Amino acid sequence: MKKVLVATDKPFAKVAVDGIRQVCDKAGYQLILLEKYTAQSDFINAVADVDAVIIRSDKADKSVIEAGKNLKIVVRAGAGYDNIDLEACTNKGVVAMNTPGQNSNAVAELALGMMVYQARKQFNGGSGTELSGKTLGIHAYGNVGKLVAKIAKGFGMEIYAFDPFVNKADIEKDGVKVVDSVEDLYKKCQYISLHIPANDKTKKSINFALLSSMPKGAVLVNTARKEVINEEDLLKLMEERQDFQYVSDIEPDCKTVFEEKYKGRFFFTPKKMGAQTEEANINAGIAAANQIVAFLEEGDTKFKVNK
Ligand code: 3PG
Repeated sequence: MKKVLVATDKPFAKVAVDGIRQVCDKAGYQLILLEKYTAQSDFINAVADVDAVIIRSDKADKSVIEAGKNLKIVVRAGAGYDNIDLEACTNKGVVAMNTPGQNSNAVAELALGMMVYQARKQFNGGSGTELSGKTLGIHAYGNVGKLVAKIAKGFGMEIYAFDPFVNKADIEKDGVKVVDSVEDLYKKCQYISLHIPANDKTKKSINFALLSSMPKGAVLVNTARKEVINEEDLLKLMEERQDFQYVSDIEPDCKTVFEEKYKGRFFFTPKKMGAQTEEANINAGIAAANQIVAFLEEGDTKFKVNK
């Protein structure tokens, strides 16, 4: 009997686990759950004799991949797969996949929710501002960026986007204005919503030059990854510009400085929760289970992300 391990430090909603179990039962696979584990060694031990693994932001590093003696596939139930050691997977002949688009709406809703929260002075009772009529720059127009645009349109925002990998006409047909450079985007927009992945090219790429060019009352919204921010630059800007605000679904490494010095100008969720809805858990979790069955039974590699 094939074995599927669900290793989630931040567990899926129960309904999603039930759905994953149903997919496994139907395929005749055994489901093993490792939730809220505290040490990486727990993951390493659990992976020892399974055929497939479903993870979220859990680290599928070299030690995990090599410990999986029967491991054939790792699926990141979600979009960003910067937590998987792709080289280790390729070297061991393990297929790595993600489930693009499955949790995007949850992340997009949170991005807009955080914008409202900050525009309304964190609900402190004082007069805030409205999103209507404000400029929003979507940095990367993938599954999440597209949905952010759709929701922001409902708020009456003026929406711009920059994404060199997406056809200009495809963005424009959503009623979004395309800018030619990332510099243009930051210069034009009071709100920037980040949707770039974390990779060698993007890490620390959100720097002083970009952020300092944003208009007065600038709000940077990060539901992507903390690694894409140059935190030293961000702190320099927070110090120099009293109007600058940072809201993020990922606590920065320099969180204590924000807490000490910039009260009211920042908000960080205690644990990444962009994708933490029942719907997103169901969509991404069940898609991951189905992708595993399709791969193990038919060799389907549609969502493979390693070479
Ligand atoms: C993703 O890349 O899909 C999101 O960041 C969600 O991550 P999570 O599954 O750890 O909440």
